[in-house]
Amino acid sequence: STVPVIAVDGPSGVGKGLVTRWLAQRLPGWHRLDSGALYRILALAAQRRHLDVRAAAAIARLAPALDIRFEGHTEDDERIVVDGQDWTHEVRKESTGALASVIAAVPEVRAALLQRQRDFRRRPGLIADGRDMGTVVFPDAVLKIFMDASAEERARRRLKQLSAKGIQATLAPLCEEIRARDERDRNRPIAPLKPADDAEVIDTTGLAPEAVKARVEALLQRYR
Ligand code: C5P
Repeated sequence: STVPVIAVDGPSGVGKGLVTRWLAQRLPGWHRLDSGALYRILALAAQRRHLDVRAAAAIARLAPALDIRFEGHTEDDERIVVDGQDWTHEVRKESTGALASVIAAVPEVRAALLQRQRDFRRRPGLIADGRDMGTVVFPDAVLKIFMDASAEERARRRLKQLSAKGIQATLAPLCEEIRARDERDRNRPIAPLKPADDAEVIDTTGLAPEAVKARVEALLQRYR
C-alpha cells in the first residue's frame, strides 16, 4: 500500500511551519519535507557557483548531487547541512527566499527537484509543506491543507518571528518582499501557488494560533 502524505501548502509566512510541527506531534514517527528549503538550498548552491539565475540547465544539474541533511527537530535546534557544511543561517535569510522564488519559476529546476521531494515519502507517512505539495508533487495526498492570510498580516508575523530571533527588520520592506514573492509564486506558469481542488482552505487572517490549531485538529480527526 502507498505511504500516506499530508500536504500543507500556502504562501510565504502563513504559518505552514507551525502547522507541520503540530501535525508531527500528533503523528509520531512521520517524516517531514520542507520543500521550500530545497529550493532555497539550490538557489544558494547556484549563487555560490556564480551561476546566473537564467542558467536553468546548469542550476538543475546541481540538484541531484547535493548532499542535503536536515538535522534537529524543533525550530530552535534545526540544522541544515549541505555537503558537510552548516547552511542553516544562509538558508533561512529573507534574501534566500526571494532568490529561491526566482529559480523556482524555472521548469527545469522544478523537474530536477521533483524526485528528490518524492524520496521523502517513507513509512509510516510524510508531512510535506510548500507551494505545490497537493497539486503537483503529491496529488494523491490523503489530506491537503491550503493556508492563506493577507500579505500585511504575514509581514507582521514575520517581523515578530525575526525580532524574537534578534534579527532587525522593518515592516514596509518586509511587506513588499512578501508581495513580490507572492506575485512570482502565484503567477508563474508552472506549478503556481493555488489550492488543489480537494484542498481544505484555512484563511488565517485574524485567526489566533489556537483557532488554526483547532481547525487542523478537526481535519486530522476526519482523516483518521
Ligand atoms: O517556503 P519557502 O519560503 O521556504 O520557499 C521559498 C521559495 O521556494 C518560495 O517563495 C517558492 O517560490 C519556492 N517554492 C516552490 N515550491 C515549493 C516550495 C517552495 O516553488 N513547493
